[in-house]
Amino acid sequence: MEIVILESPAEVGRVAAALVGKVVTDRPDAVLGLATGSSPLGIYRSLAARVAEGELDFSRASGFALDEYVGIPLTHPESYAAVIARDVIEPLGLDPARVRVPDGRADDLEAAAVEYDGAIRTAGGVDIQILGIGANGHIGFNEPTSSFASRTRIKTLAPSTREANARFFDDPAQVPTHCLTQGLGTILEAKRVVLVAQGAAKAHAIAAAVEGPLSAMCPGSALQLHEHATIVVDEEAAAEL
Ligand code: GLP
Repeated sequence: MEIVILESPAEVGRVAAALVGKVVTDRPDAVLGLATGSSPLGIYRSLAARVAEGELDFSRASGFALDEYVGIPLTHPESYAAVIARDVIEPLGLDPARVRVPDGRADDLEAAAVEYDGAIRTAGGVDIQILGIGANGHIGFNEPTSSFASRTRIKTLAPSTREANARFFDDPAQVPTHCLTQGLGTILEAKRVVLVAQGAAKAHAIAAAVEGPLSAMCPGSALQLHEHATIVVDEEAAAEL
């Protein structure tokens, strides 16, 4: 695990974006693992600026989102399908046909999860997985107690995660109760991982993930098992290291 501590959230986005940019420069048809949430927005902004300047080209790259809410209409602005389209596909110039998000509207969610997990493998695996981390240590929507061997599946969202994400919905009761998420085992198969965190609210989760014991109670600690994981944090998020 490589830990990079930077002065500002803007630098976190820029440095993590450089890692993603290098992968796409080396391999224009790279497979990207895409995270939602506020943490990676700086990465996407930094990459979009480089695309605008003609330094990077994502038109041949493909992507797999980490997770999606169950039961949310695709047209809802906070469905992860909508977020990925708005924050990633459009600004980076990705081909929408090459980007997948788990299907939280599927009639058979278990089958959809298994198919999604298989599709990642069929695509040759993720070249670089972008991750944020929840204040409770979750990555993707792998809440505490998730197995390190878990695959893409249905999960119940922790009450604290529903509270944290209520800010994206008009009414807290609208926050979905379940999701589809890539498993920790799925995420660990990515060839590279870059996890970003900014702000004091993430300090405890970062310390537990980086310096704590390997524990299902902190799903982020699974990244200690990964050979090419880079954790990029600002000073506030690094405060408990
Ligand atoms: C969300 C997402 C995660 C994200 C985390 C932290 O609910 N499913 O992928 O990393 O929670 O979110 P944020 O970056 O907004 O703090």
